[in-house]
Amino acid sequence: MRTYLALIAAAVALLGADAARPKWSELSENYSYEQYLADFGKAAPARSEYDARKARFEAQLAATLRHNADKTASWKRGINHMSDWSDSEHAALRGRLPSTWAIRAAHLNLPSTRAPVGIPPAFDWRTKGVVTPVKDQGHCGSCWAFAATATIESHLAVNTGVLAELSPQQLVSCVPNPHHCGGDGGCAGSTAELAYDYVKKAGIASAYSFPYTSWPGDSNGDCDVKPASRSKAFANVSGYQALAVNDEASLLEALVAHGPISVSVAASPWSFYESGVFDGCALQGSGTDVNHAVVLVGYDEESLIIRNSWTPLWGEDGYIRLKRTTSCGIDTTPEHGSRCDGGPTTVKVCGMCGVLSESSYPTNTGLAR
Ligand SMILES: *[C@@H]1O[C@H](CO)[C@@H](O)[C@H](O)[C@H]1NC(C)=O
Ligand SMILES: *[C@@H]1O[C@H](CO)[C@@H](O)[C@H](O)[C@H]1NC(C)=O
Repeated sequence: MRTYLALIAAAVALLGADAARPKWSELSENYSYEQYLADFGKAAPARSEYDARKARFEAQLAATLRHNADKTASWKRGINHMSDWSDSEHAALRGRLPSTWAIRAAHLNLPSTRAPVGIPPAFDWRTKGVVTPVKDQGHCGSCWAFAATATIESHLAVNTGVLAELSPQQLVSCVPNPHHCGGDGGCAGSTAELAYDYVKKAGIASAYSFPYTSWPGDSNGDCDVKPASRSKAFANVSGYQALAVNDEASLLEALVAHGPISVSVAASPWSFYESGVFDGCALQGSGTDVNHAVVLVGYDEESLIIRNSWTPLWGEDGYIRLKRTTSCGIDTTPEHGSRCDGGPTTVKVCGMCGVLSESSYPTNTGLAR
């Protein structure tokens, strides 16, 4: 209960702060840490960490002003609720993902450069009434659960016309991860594909009956919920379809034909994204650390439209547009993404931030009643 109240309090604080938070164009070197705390409804840090957090904020502000002074940049950097976070707080957000690298040896001689067939030049599921509001995973590395849940919600709406909020908490609390795919499970990371496997067996409850309690990040919650009706399945799936790796054509064709798709990305450079078409992931060499699960909901000629789970206050109302490219990088830490025990130690990941590297969607999503 305590955590649930904290969640409500945090949501209220965020809503209250919306009016005050400055856009990139309103920032100056005069923007103080004290004003930042007030604008974003953040409690003042404890004395022991105040100076360190203030220094991180000031470094972020300086980097933000530098980036935005470059008029040729395709995206704007912003100040947000994460601007005074430590590296470990950022890292805790990115426990994740879809998990078949171990068995998809084809990761080597790509990308595919085939043009997509039979799809429009632009497409966006958000305009079709099948996408729920953007969520906040809090300090729990549950991106994989939010990505799987959002995908199932949208596929349910596409297939049945019922747009319902489903329970990422059930996935955080219940999905087993014995082979340590993309982490140690729950808030410590997992994959959307393991989530689909679980939903195939147990179904997924509504968010109202099994609400999110892992927001503080200190507990995966209890899978064995009493009364049992709280975890009663609302929706079910027959499994999942994994898409060809590093193949933008297959990804976009599946998006249009079936619904939103869970994808894997290197999100470390995303923390201070505010708006525009993001091209801030280096694509050469070994710097692409795929570590986050998100949802592809649409595209246009220039960008892929991605739903995140870092509140609607981050980015463009909770979304980021990634520049379309088939360039590739090498990920030398696939265990941060979806690598399971015994999987490959380096993989080729293509697309901006590796977004084309590993994608899947739930199959035959329906109402479990
Ligand atoms: C910052 O503060 C200085 C000193 O008060 C003032 O001269 C300057 O115009 C301010 N800059 C901005 C961008 O507000
Ligand atoms: C989902 O549940 C319904 C109702 O029990 C059942 O008829 C349907 O076959 C299930 N679908 C899948 C994919 O398991």
